[in-house]
Amino acid sequence: MLEKINQTAQYLRERAGREMPRTAIILGTGLGALVDHIDDKLYIPYSEIPNFPVSTVEGHSGNLIFGTLGGKPVIAMQGRFHYYEGYDMKTVTFPVRVFKALGVDTLFVSNAAGGMNKEFRVGDVMIITDQINLFPENPLRGKNYNDLGPRFPAMTEPYSHELIDLADQIARELEIRVMHGVYVGTTGPTFETPAEYEYFRIIGGDAVGMSTVPEVIVARHGDMRVFGISVITDLGGKDITEVPSHEEVQKAAQKAQPNVVALIREMVKRS
Ligand code: HPA
Repeated sequence: MLEKINQTAQYLRERAGREMPRTAIILGTGLGALVDHIDDKLYIPYSEIPNFPVSTVEGHSGNLIFGTLGGKPVIAMQGRFHYYEGYDMKTVTFPVRVFKALGVDTLFVSNAAGGMNKEFRVGDVMIITDQINLFPENPLRGKNYNDLGPRFPAMTEPYSHELIDLADQIARELEIRVMHGVYVGTTGPTFETPAEYEYFRIIGGDAVGMSTVPEVIVARHGDMRVFGISVITDLGGKDITEVPSHEEVQKAAQKAQPNVVALIREMVKRS
């Protein structure tokens, strides 16, 4: 695994031929438009990157993008790898390992999520304060490479408190309504049953989605600072009868996009 990571990192360093960013961004559903704000873009299709898997889902194109955002060098993933696509956890999180090898120390992640918190509305932006791993596997299972991180990493602060405070401050300045909450990561690809949404709420979740948790575990293993945002694209629970669909999720994410983009852009600039 170490060899693969280093080989991919070396390829990217040579191909990009520029200063390596310390900030990486995983553009989930709802943050795609951030790409329009990245300057000096270099697109590298996943298919051309050694050891990289290729994304399979409609609406998730696969490119690594080097560029600058608010004057800062960044590397962005346009399209991520989901467990439900059939990839194992090591594959899902491989790009985060490569980011670390390139010198990245701060990771921004975004996703679309279903809301269980009764205060939430469709289109809300939720700053992720914590997470619950309900994937059947942990990406760190198996041999630990001490060069990558400790065998038993603490997960006391999965999402950087400092970055959450910064986000709150920026949200106030930009007059963006932001919620705080716990993200539950589960495999999908089914959306939840009413009883499952209820269950996730009772165990402490505010929103549920099919990504992010594996990447954040690996980022924390490598001691990166992490900031995460969920766009609430549908609501779930025992009194809710609306049926979520991929199209609805995309539509709701689209609507929240300008706020999320403004927030992340400013955060990258100031962090
Ligand atoms: N459940 C799981 N994943 C999701 C949802 C949901 O309701 N909405 C967007 N991604």
